[in-house]
Amino acid sequence: MSSFNLFLLPGDGIGPEIMVEVKAILDWFGQAGIAKFETEMGLVGGCAYDAHGKAISESDMAMAASADAVLFGAVGGPKWDKVPYDVRPEAGLLRLRKDLGLFANLRPAICYPALADASSLKREVVEGLDILIIRELTGGVYFGEPKEIVTLENGEKRAVDTQLYTTHEIERIARVAFDLAKTRRNKVSSAEKRNVMKSGVLWNEVVTRVGKTEYPDVELEHVLADNCAMQLVRWPKQYDVIVTDNLFGDVLSDIAAMLTGSLGMLPSASLGAPDPVTGRSKALYEPVHGSAPDIAGKGLANPIAMIGSFAMTLRYSLGLGEAADMLEKAIANVLASGVRTKDIASAGQNAVGTGEMGAAIRRELAVVAR
Ligand code: IPM
Ligand code: MG
Repeated sequence: MSSFNLFLLPGDGIGPEIMVEVKAILDWFGQAGIAKFETEMGLVGGCAYDAHGKAISESDMAMAASADAVLFGAVGGPKWDKVPYDVRPEAGLLRLRKDLGLFANLRPAICYPALADASSLKREVVEGLDILIIRELTGGVYFGEPKEIVTLENGEKRAVDTQLYTTHEIERIARVAFDLAKTRRNKVSSAEKRNVMKSGVLWNEVVTRVGKTEYPDVELEHVLADNCAMQLVRWPKQYDVIVTDNLFGDVLSDIAAMLTGSLGMLPSASLGAPDPVTGRSKALYEPVHGSAPDIAGKGLANPIAMIGSFAMTLRYSLGLGEAADMLEKAIANVLASGVRTKDIASAGQNAVGTGEMGAAIRRELAVVAR
């Protein structure tokens, strides 16, 4: 049985309680003889700040860099609203992305038929939806310099963030999108704002060239990012793979999340470039939702996005595609059987807690595995 070493960073808010459910699933896979997982646990976000005044410690960064994959819960909460900007909880996540070189963020949005009524959109618009947002994750306005607030001579302040992309950064994210499109419905939609931004002009040029020269068989269309937001709520099934920059990807993926019924449903994978020697990529897996401080500690959180992120770990980092399929099937079956956490329950439907949802998925896993 292959053995893997995972670094768990549950973080803040609902992070720890949803990570408990993933841990139980890891143990299940071990007991079932499918794969063995060694885990270490670290601190990130507000809890790391409380422990050592930083959003992630150097030793935890080193653990993250050496693990087969990192599983990340969520960070932040009102308790840390006033901590200095450089050590705010989100800084831990951003440092992991940047220092591990996790430039490719895969955010699949799948609407399970059983959940079509939980979406705020009409059933026919979202039922059976299966799109993949590829968000560039280590560049753009998140990391561009200068990034500062300066005081002008007249006493007024001026804030600057810098949107910055190089050819190479656009090429590599475009290739990820085209490669994945080939395994799906063979269509890439590239979203930028070339009508307003120079970075959009370059983005459009580079994606067009990569498409023409390296992927002539993949259909490519360009869409302005604001129009893409509108199209996502109008008729999302027109899309297969959407490739976009860091900031647009942040916004578009939240929209896509709601199409699936709840933010509590969306998993994600953040991948680096393959190591030239080992061929392995550094990787971090996290639910798209945040720390949900309002429901933290109450056992109400939906663990599906976190468990789905572990399914992505099996598929993209560990070469266990079949186990990933099994886990995703178990999730789909549990939903089809009517089990719902509060965020995905329709009016009048009974809702279960985090632990019950996790247990239902493990029970179903045992059935699917037979
Ligand atoms: C996300 C989150 C993060 C982001 C925050 C927590 C820094 O919104 O992963 O989508 O903006 O990238
Ligand atoms: Mg976001």
